[in-house]
This record gives sequence, structure tokens and C-alpha cells, in this order.
Amino acid sequence: MTRIVGIETSCDETAAAVVDDRSHVRSSVVASQIDVHRAFGGVVPEIAARRHIEAIDVVISQALEQAGSSWNDVDGVAVTYGPGLVGCLLVGLCAAKAIAWQRELPLLAVNHLEGHVRSAFIEHPDIEFPALALVVSGGHTSLYLCPEEDVYRGIARTRDDAAGEAFDKVGKLLGLGYPGGPEIDRLSRDANEQAYDFPLDFSFSGLKTAVRQRAQQEGLVTVGEATPTQRVKDMVASFQKAVVDALVERTLRACRQESVRTVLVTGGVACNSRLRAAFAEVAEREGLRVCFPSPRYTTDNAAMIAAAGFLHLERGRLAPLDLNADANLKLGATLVG
Ligand code: KG4
Ligand code: ZN
Repeated sequence: MTRIVGIETSCDETAAAVVDDRSHVRSSVVASQIDVHRAFGGVVPEIAARRHIEAIDVVISQALEQAGSSWNDVDGVAVTYGPGLVGCLLVGLCAAKAIAWQRELPLLAVNHLEGHVRSAFIEHPDIEFPALALVVSGGHTSLYLCPEEDVYRGIARTRDDAAGEAFDKVGKLLGLGYPGGPEIDRLSRDANEQAYDFPLDFSFSGLKTAVRQRAQQEGLVTVGEATPTQRVKDMVASFQKAVVDALVERTLRACRQESVRTVLVTGGVACNSRLRAAFAEVAEREGLRVCFPSPRYTTDNAAMIAAAGFLHLERGRLAPLDLNADANLKLGATLVG
């Protein structure tokens, strides 16, 4: 049995987890800061970093306790070292380096996006390659071809804003609070998604601008939070449909081009119920296998970071103790170790 502790602090969640043998999650603790940042309509990096410092020790201790584990049973420490907010990344990274040094444990440097992809394996350890991996989060919308496990070739990315960012900005524009994604998902359930015809493109900034223009024309732009009218619900449902259709269409095209029949849909936006339904429908129609992580491991968490750490440990890719955070780390670029 191999046991890895994962640590994740790239944005506004302080998270730690204990995972055995690649995909058996013994514990996963996530301290969310959403309530702190809500008042500002988005994440304030300095506040987030300070909160991580306050929470990190407790979160790691809780993860070990809930797993019924002590450091003596642990074989490695996996930590997100990028991409993300640099001040935030440094908190988790410094904690992981200190533990690795003091306990003489391997330090495993994980790319946050790699973590999102590996989150699908917690639920579906039998995923086969080649596969396409779509990461749709607040910071990224990227499609990778994985010819084999642990190999990532970028094949498409949004030209500008990430899909989750567009959800959050549209939510803010229409007075729905932060983060906009889950709220738009909820409000769209009793709305008409055909009410507005928004552009279908892998440019989510362009889509957001189209929503803003229509909202301005109809006097729907809201400062602060407000109870949404039916018009607002129809508008966000139509926006959500445009995002979902663009993601599904681009992924399906890549499946055909690359002759791949397995797709992993990961990242916070993969919680979206409309996106899940659309991919399920496509999977059925096209005979594809589409795998989602369980909702618990879809938004930022540390179980996915530990899960990714196994691949590094198995391949002997140990990070040096002077490893630095890399706010703009790319997936598919040279791996550390
Ligand atoms: O992966 P994640 O937790 O953090 C990043 O790595 O960015 O993703 C957070 C993003 C936010 O933009 C949030 O609005 C979005 O995921 N999100 C959703 C839903 N749940 C979270 N977007 C649409 N529908 C949802 N149900
Ligand atoms: Zn993420």
C-alpha cells in the first residue's frame, strides 16, 4: 500500500487529502473562502494568501486525523506548485517542503491542471488511453490529447477568458453574486434557454460581451446582488447553453480528428448539470465513453493533487526542496524532477 498526502492552495480553497494506491481517498478536507471573497465579487489574492496561512496547518492535521493516519504511514507529499495565484501557491508549497524535509519524504510537484485531469481517475480508475481531457475551470479552458497516461498535448484552448470566468462575470453583471457558475446552473433549470441567441465560439470573453450588450439594451445590468427576474433567468440559461454547446462541439470535433473514444471532462465547470447532460447525450449518440469526476472532486480539492502525485512517485520524479511556485505553469511543458 502506498499513501500520499496532497496539498492544494492555488486559489481560494485551502485543501489537504490522504489518498491510498492512486484512487482510494481516505480523507479530503477543503476549507473554502468563498464567504470572505463574496463581498468583493471575486477572489482578492492578498486576502486569499493570508487565509491560507491561517488555515493550512489545521487543514492538513484534519486530513490526517480523518484518514486515521500519522506521518509515519505516509510515502510522499504532493503539492500544487502552479498555475495559480503566486502568494497562495507559496503557502501550500512552503508547508509541503517543510514536511518533506523534516519527515524525509519525497516531494511531488503537481500541476493544478494535471490534478484536475487525474480527478476523473478517482471515480473511474479503469480509464483507457488514448483519451481527450477537457479542463474547464475558473482559470482555464483547455483540451488535451493524452496518447498515454501522463502525456499531455494541448490541442485547443479558449482564446481569452476561461469558461468559469465567463460564468462568474455574467453572474456579477446580472447581480447573481459570487461565484456565478453554480447560481446560473440553478436558475437555468426553470428558464427558456432559447430566449437569446448568443454566439457559439471558443471565445468566452466575446460571449460575455454579447451578454453584457443585451443586458444593457434591456436594462438588466445590476450593481450588487438582486433577485433575478424571469428575463435574467432566460438570459443566463441562453448564455449557459452557448458555453455548453461550444465546449461539446469543440470536444467532439477533436474526438473525430484524433480518433479518440474516451473523454474526461474536469475542472469546476464540470459540475454544471447542463454540461453533464449534454455530454451524456453525445456519449450515447456517438458511442463515446465520457467520464466526469464525482462532484466532490470536481471543484478544487487536494485528493486530485494526491492522485496525480502517484504518477510522479511511480516514475521517480521527485521535486527538489528548493522548488519554486510557478504562477503561469503550463501543462505538457517540462515536468519537474
Ligand atoms: O476548478 P475550480 O474549482 O477552480 C479553478 O481551478 O479555477 O473552478 C471554479 C469555477 C468557478 O468559475 C465556478 O463558477 C465554476 O467553476 N463552477 C460552475 C459550477 N460550479 C462551479 N460553473 C458552472 N456551473 C456550475 N455548477
Ligand atoms: Zn481548479
